[in-house]
Amino acid sequence: MRIPEELAELGKKRIEPYPVEGFVYGSGPKHPRLMLVGEAPGETEIGNGIPFSGRAGKELMKFLEMAGVMREEVYITSAVRSRPYKWGEKNGPDGTKIMRKYNRAPTSSEILAHAPMLDYEIEHVHAPIIVTLGNIGLNRLIGNKKKVSDLHGELLVQPVLRLKCDQYEWTEKQYRLFPTFHPASIFYNRSLLQLIHADMEKLRDIMQEFSGE
Ligand code: URA
Repeated sequence: MRIPEELAELGKKRIEPYPVEGFVYGSGPKHPRLMLVGEAPGETEIGNGIPFSGRAGKELMKFLEMAGVMREEVYITSAVRSRPYKWGEKNGPDGTKIMRKYNRAPTSSEILAHAPMLDYEIEHVHAPIIVTLGNIGLNRLIGNKKKVSDLHGELLVQPVLRLKCDQYEWTEKQYRLFPTFHPASIFYNRSLLQLIHADMEKLRDIMQEFSGE
């Protein structure tokens, strides 16, 4: 499934004022076993256009395997489709300072700019369960007060936030959400790996329950 081209063009226009680069479409089947909502693409993804194809993506594929699903069976998207960056210094090979772009978390304005595309996917991709990866995806769908550290590994059945006239409002429809950590979180905090493994086992059981839909 791919979002309509006019919607992608609108998203590109809405994000123009912000320091971001590239554009990555969500990808996967229209009737996936899961829909995954990440944060924003990084350098690898904007280079090849494939979501979660970099270092975090390699970890994600291991997690999916634990949950008993293959990449081709899931729809992968994110709150923001362009790479948010900031400039920083790095030491060059001869000791001189070189400026380079670093990844950063998307801001609420950037998330709002790309909200119509995620709204479209939530409505048109028929996934029995939406897995949010990290706080950015979780907060985009259920508001800023919730934290992945409190809700990970639990199935939530509730409405999600969607944009109407540039304001978020709750959907009438209820969705099944399964929050877990962003795969890149283990690069900074290795102890999260055990929690993610336990979440993937729970997800595997939950998916079996809804596999006939
Ligand atoms: N993180 C995301 O949320 N999406 C990607 O595609 C890569 C890293």
